[in-house]
Amino acid sequence: MRIALASDHAGYELKAGISRYLAEQAAAFTDLGCGPNESVDYVDFAVKGAAEVLSGACDRAILVCGTGMGMAVAANKFKGIRATPCWNLYTAEMSRRHNDANCLTLGGRTTPLADAIRIVQVWLDTSFEGGRHARRVDKIKELEERHFKP
Ligand code: RB5
Repeated sequence: MRIALASDHAGYELKAGISRYLAEQAAAFTDLGCGPNESVDYVDFAVKGAAEVLSGACDRAILVCGTGMGMAVAANKFKGIRATPCWNLYTAEMSRRHNDANCLTLGGRTTPLADAIRIVQVWLDTSFEGGRHARRVDKIKELEERHFKP
């Protein structure tokens, strides 16, 4: 599995910690920025992360801003992205088992690194349950088709 990692300035430190963790695990990942001491708009980095997933270059994305909320709102504008802010192990597990989330968003100002690492571990290791949840995710995909305006 290849992971796209991106943040704005408010998520930079947490992203750096997650990046160190992924490197220690020998995980395949691409750090899309931002860099240190930059002030950027989270939307631009949500776009970069979503684009990596939608192009197939990465299987999943982890996006970090101050709260995880702006990244989720922006990434979810893309057809095919299911971005979920996760703040504990339960939400991380359920976002995979029930929502088949392909994009995890985290808050650099709300989630300490040790917690974020455990959330990332669970999120990467948990499979989609399918079954009735696949029917529901399929309905989300239908919504994308019906309401998509090019
Ligand atoms: C940046 O100050 C902050 O607004 C942003 O990181 C994010 O939390 C938005 O959702």
